[in-house]
Amino acid sequence: MKKQVVISVRDVSFSYGSHEVLKDINLEVFEGDYIAVIGPNGGGKTTFTKLLLGLLQPQKGTIRIFGKPVLEARTEIGYLPQYINFNMDMPLTVFDIVLQGRLRPGKLFYSKEDKAIAAKQLEKMKITHLQNRKIKELSGGQRQRVLLARALAKEPKILILDEPTASIDPEGQKEIYALLKELDQTKIIVSHDIQVLFEGVNRVAHINKTLYLHEDIDTSIDRNTEHFCELELLEYIKGHRCSN
Ligand SMILES: Nc1ncnc2c1ncn2[C@@H]1O[C@H](COP(=O)(O)OP(=O)(O)O)[C@@H](O)[C@H]1O
Ligand SMILES: [Mg+2]
Repeated sequence: MKKQVVISVRDVSFSYGSHEVLKDINLEVFEGDYIAVIGPNGGGKTTFTKLLLGLLQPQKGTIRIFGKPVLEARTEIGYLPQYINFNMDMPLTVFDIVLQGRLRPGKLFYSKEDKAIAAKQLEKMKITHLQNRKIKELSGGQRQRVLLARALAKEPKILILDEPTASIDPEGQKEIYALLKELDQTKIIVSHDIQVLFEGVNRVAHINKTLYLHEDIDTSIDRNTEHFCELELLEYIKGHRCSN
């Protein structure tokens, strides 16, 4: 059976003013894909995710999500932005923050079901024990798991994560990757950390103004888990040619 196309990006170009950041991008994302988006700083990765979310509009090309224009499909997407400025004095608990994922325009109260869904996501992210804590009492890794739980509380079909493991210690990163691997959603994860290639992704998009796709990544390759550098990465992807 042919897999359902979840996101379709066709000939998309985007510029900030006269600065062209993305050029002629094409990508089809299928149901169940776990795509890593890698590439240099300033390569356009965050801009690409913002286009998928409808936060920016391409000057050229089209993006469809479940066959619909992006702005009509927003409810299907859970998003973790690259930068979040937390107000550390916020009196909200972890549970309150996860519940925010259930917010809808015009909705005034959370239902019992909303609370049950929030509790389920806390469990999934293994932070139920932190539910009454304030955000300032958490480590970076714990904070990211709260935000992930909030994104999941929306019960989205697609998850888009922009550098979710940046500024987290290696142990915390591993935990987040392990949790992400278990999620059924179609996932797109931006990372400058090549470790992501070994965390269950099935396709890798390299973005540096243009997008190149590496298909069917073989993550079974034997490697030294203690040390992994760019040379080994080159060795690893040697067999995978870039395709447009
Ligand atoms: N709001 C903006 N206005 C103007 N230029 C921007 C804006 N956001 C990003 N850029 C520029 O667009 C390019 C791509 O940025 P970005 O998408 O954030 O890259 P990445 O996430 O890969 O580091 C960079 O040169 C950046 O300086
Ligand atoms: Mg970025």
